[in-house]
Amino acid sequence: SVNDRVEDLMSRMTLEDKVYQMCQYVGLEHMKAAESKISAEELDKNDALGFYPGVLSDSVGRLAAAGKIGSFLHVVTPEEANYLQKLALQSPLKIPLLIGIDAIHGNGLVSGSTIYPSPISQAATFDDALVKEGSRQTALEMRANGMHWSFTPNIDVLRDPRWGRTGETYGEDPFLVGNMGVATISGLQSDDFTGSENVIACAKHLIAGSSSINGLNAAPTDVSKRTLFEIFLPPYRRAVQEANVFSIMAAHNEVAGMPGHMDKFMMNDLMRERWGFNGFYVSDWNDVSRIAYWHHVAKDFKQSIEFSVNAGMDMNMHGPTFDKLLIELVNEGKVDVARVNYACKKLLEVKFRLGLFENPFVDIEKSKTVNFSEAHQKNALEQARRSIVLQTNKNNALPLSENGNGKTIFITGPNANNQTTLGDWVSPQPEENVVTMVEGITQIGEAKGYKVNYFDSGDRSKEITDANIDLAAQKAKQSDIVILVLGENSFRHDWPRKTTGENIDRATLKLSGNQMKLANKILDLGKKVIVVYISGSPIAEPGLENRANAVLNTWESGAFAGQAAAEILFGQVNPSGKLPLTVPRSVGQLQMVYNHKPTAYIHKYNTEKKVPLHPFGFGLSYTNFEFSEPKLSKDVFAGIDDVINVTVEVSNTGALDGEEVVQLYIHDDISSYTRPVKELKGYKRIALKAGETKSVTIPVKAESLAMYDKDFNFVVEPGTFTIMTGNSSADKDLKTTTISVAEGIVLDKNK
Ligand code: IFM
Repeated sequence: SVNDRVEDLMSRMTLEDKVYQMCQYVGLEHMKAAESKISAEELDKNDALGFYPGVLSDSVGRLAAAGKIGSFLHVVTPEEANYLQKLALQSPLKIPLLIGIDAIHGNGLVSGSTIYPSPISQAATFDDALVKEGSRQTALEMRANGMHWSFTPNIDVLRDPRWGRTGETYGEDPFLVGNMGVATISGLQSDDFTGSENVIACAKHLIAGSSSINGLNAAPTDVSKRTLFEIFLPPYRRAVQEANVFSIMAAHNEVAGMPGHMDKFMMNDLMRERWGFNGFYVSDWNDVSRIAYWHHVAKDFKQSIEFSVNAGMDMNMHGPTFDKLLIELVNEGKVDVARVNYACKKLLEVKFRLGLFENPFVDIEKSKTVNFSEAHQKNALEQARRSIVLQTNKNNALPLSENGNGKTIFITGPNANNQTTLGDWVSPQPEENVVTMVEGITQIGEAKGYKVNYFDSGDRSKEITDANIDLAAQKAKQSDIVILVLGENSFRHDWPRKTTGENIDRATLKLSGNQMKLANKILDLGKKVIVVYISGSPIAEPGLENRANAVLNTWESGAFAGQAAAEILFGQVNPSGKLPLTVPRSVGQLQMVYNHKPTAYIHKYNTEKKVPLHPFGFGLSYTNFEFSEPKLSKDVFAGIDDVINVTVEVSNTGALDGEEVVQLYIHDDISSYTRPVKELKGYKRIALKAGETKSVTIPVKAESLAMYDKDFNFVVEPGTFTIMTGNSSADKDLKTTTISVAEGIVLDKNK
């Protein structure tokens, strides 16, 4: 068995060998690329590019060949993966390497992969099965390229969209984030991450970096224990208990004074002991050393390692010295050898399960047939179609008429004709694999008899000059319809032009640079103007939404964004994406979320409304759906295994076929601690032909009603609960009924 093989190998390993398994390094090509770009002096100062002062790529190669490295990250070609495995097999114990990569929405750092919509788009589909299938395909692409471990899903519940990593999240709701996280993990790992077609997933980042006090990445978070348990932790509990996630990454940030990388309560007591996490922890980039150098709660790297490994850390991302210092700490009795044994055991278990001892190499030719295969493209396109949210549509401005009759469409804007649709953690992809907005609209528009012209307005700040704005306006004047492709840019390698993404946070949620100047000049012409947003985070431009004829929010919908958006613009596909977060009117409204507490809006702002621009769960369609009152299978909830089925009739009363997401929210009417005004607890995506009615049933389980009591037991308190069903979180879109719980239920006791 795997266990016997692990025990057998462990019996032949020294303390040193075991510690080496806990060491991760950045791929050699990545290092070489950086080495060629910066001076030795810069190199010594810069940890951000993957450098270790004084260590060069060739010496890392020698470490691998000596068996002193357990894992690599950022290896982006199958050739390099094979090369590194060959080095590892020269070592005395011949233990293969575990190769990790940020395959966040497809194996995007590898050129030629399928690029699925980014997580925020995936959440907007409200379609767990489709997301799971895409993750399964990503696992196949990863394994074909020699990669075994994806640093995904990011199940940080997004509470502050200034955070540049918003597009990497599944939005603001713990239930939706949990579902998407479980779908992603199950797709990547399958049941038990065994065999040559699976990879392991990594739930990250423990915990709450998505709610830093100022919206900046890695800055302190200061939330209560109750908020951690109610908002941030539920997706982690589910990742562990429902999907058996095998790795978790700690967060850069501190919570209430405790850096994530040494938080023993979080890593050990809660996740491992109470909730049964059975896998291993990996640090984030250099974050063990940052316990000393950023947080100043350890005196040096050695003490940081002591605190981190004792708290539960199993692998250091990344670089030298960790091994030497950890060996010293064990020999000095400051770190129990049992911690090292645990870590090594888990890391060997993964390597055995994934079949790496049998075959660590990949067939380069085969990788080419798996990457971007037809079935994968199909899923990526379908995700894109279902993720796009129609935010406004005045007087049915969309869809554009079936027959173009020679009318002219003019497209401009900084995101119109480039790879910004791919989002973060994606390297530039072959042009022929990506459909830009201009390409998608031109192809379908011309087939329908439109003339389509494009003018490159230039990029946001510097290039959207007054001269370019004038030129764009002149061209718009000669056209019948204008499509403005605006938004932000988190595309990973587009450095000078990026406006958001990892470590690029937003101080405003308005459109950056001169985009509004361009938009206003064109809107002044009085033409039909359709705004298409490409952005991983929400755009708070109420004025623009007021003036434009329609606003289509395409998030970052991946390689086929242009095709999916064009299909929607021309009515070939009826939009059905729903917002996975609240779109605020302004940055001053933050942290505005739909599942706020009852007193959040007792008073008002002096200069701002207290309603959002668009609520969570909202998204228009080209048809109309009508919802009946919810009907209950019974109205008293009886015990831990009980289920009440809530059924609604949904009718498509419009003239077009369409898809709708039926949503179920719950409110605990009277509780011992305050509860959110509503919480999403179920949803179902359905397809309805024009005129068709379907009945949709969503179960309410004990978990749907539960909360944490004063001792942090997970319980259902007796009393009544309001059940709300409809097609957005806005009160006006919901119909209600009530269930009651006669006796309290304990789901999980805090020991
Ligand atoms: O996985 C990421 C993490 O989310 C942020 N820091 C770097 C890691 C590895 O690339």
